[in-house]
Amino acid sequence: MGTPFRSGILRKPNETMRLIVTTFVGVIFGFFLGVSFPTLSLTKMNLPTSLFPSIDLTYIEDKYSELSTGALLHAWSSLKGNGVHPTRLYKFNDSKIWVPTNPRGAERLPPGIIASESDFFLRRLWGQPSEDLTIKPKYLVTFTVGYDQRNNIDAAVKKFSENFTILLFHYDGRTSEWDEFEWSRRAIHVSARKQTKWWYAKRFLHPDIVAAYDYIFMWDEDLGVEHFDAEEYIKLVRKHGLEISQPGLEPNNGLTWQMTKMRGNGEVHKDTEEKPGWCTDPHLPPCAAFVEIMATVFSRDAWRCVWYMIQNDLVHGWGLDFALRKCVEPAHEKIGVVDAQWIVHQSVPSLGNQGQAESGRAPWEGVRERCRREWTMFQERMVNAEKEYFMAMGIDATNSTAR
Ligand SMILES: *[C@@H]1O[C@H](CO)[C@@H](O)[C@H](O)[C@H]1NC(C)=O
Ligand SMILES: *[C@@H]1O[C@H](CO)[C@@H](O)[C@H](O)[C@H]1NC(C)=O
Ligand SMILES: *[C@@H]1O[C@H](CO)[C@@H](O)[C@H](O)[C@H]1NC(C)=O
Repeated sequence: MGTPFRSGILRKPNETMRLIVTTFVGVIFGFFLGVSFPTLSLTKMNLPTSLFPSIDLTYIEDKYSELSTGALLHAWSSLKGNGVHPTRLYKFNDSKIWVPTNPRGAERLPPGIIASESDFFLRRLWGQPSEDLTIKPKYLVTFTVGYDQRNNIDAAVKKFSENFTILLFHYDGRTSEWDEFEWSRRAIHVSARKQTKWWYAKRFLHPDIVAAYDYIFMWDEDLGVEHFDAEEYIKLVRKHGLEISQPGLEPNNGLTWQMTKMRGNGEVHKDTEEKPGWCTDPHLPPCAAFVEIMATVFSRDAWRCVWYMIQNDLVHGWGLDFALRKCVEPAHEKIGVVDAQWIVHQSVPSLGNQGQAESGRAPWEGVRERCRREWTMFQERMVNAEKEYFMAMGIDATNSTAR
């Protein structure tokens, strides 16, 4: 425990504070152990045997001798880890528990102890856990960022209220520099070099991990947010029942799709007209049931489906936009574009430039080529998966809605 002092490098005053507090807690704990030791045997004798049929006495004694050897801190941490109050050490016959409805692999646990979902709420190291959070963020916003885009991200983050957890995925390895922004200290930073938004999403946004959030924003770093307010956006999304959405895109910018263009005359839109021949069905992409993947917003339920569709090796996410509709029903009503809160797609080349220059080609060319290839691969996998399913079910696939 004295090591940090001996090293002579105490960077922050609160580290010193933490040490003092830890020492103090250790001493107090030792004192209480001494006090509660005689009561242990009493407690154990008074326990009704019908309620606690198999109290393991050796367990208590093991704990005891461990403590008497003076391994105070070790005992402290193991007790803390077990969540066992020192004066009530008892043990049931664990091998009698088997709950098939528990999450896979956790069947041996009593259901009451299982915490199958999580969140990104930051907590304190002291005080009552129940009092840790002054605000429980209801929404999550993630940006995949490089430090060069910091001013853009700074502007964007300021459009998200305290009701949002901010999660940054760093593809350039620069994280601590962001602390120049006040909000950075309450943001979550994940750093893995040269990875894409969908790579991060698959690894860090499992539906059980983000289960606390009503809506999840998965945004690129090159979006202009001058005409956007996140709380207002959520209100509209709720009002119009959009499970998957994006803000309209400022139209004077050479956009690929009609669908995601902002319209000046309403709150949201859910369909559009495309160039002749582009839409085989007015209810299907790119005329409806369609948003792009640069600024997508998912409801909790929609994300629970979409996450499963993301392929581990297809990192660019191309083709996902056309397949999102498989996760909501009816898709042409639950996927849409919010016009009243709109953004500008600035098309800053970012991750695209992080490729590898090969055989005389610029780095971005190889990246672009892989995007296209992934798009084909994703389409093929989807078609084959559906085909397999319908064949296994004995359904004529040509008669299905799979397209
Ligand atoms: C626990 O229960 C299992 C199954 O009923 C039994 O085989 C085992 O002997 C028990 N163990 C103890 C320590 O009572
Ligand atoms: C945060 O959410 C609460 C509850 O929905 C709401 O009353 C409050 O206005 C929100 N904060 C902002 C800044 O919009
Ligand atoms: C296609 O589906 C319809 C309605 O489910 C059914 O009536 C028809 O027989 C099916 N056709 C074939 C070829 O399976």
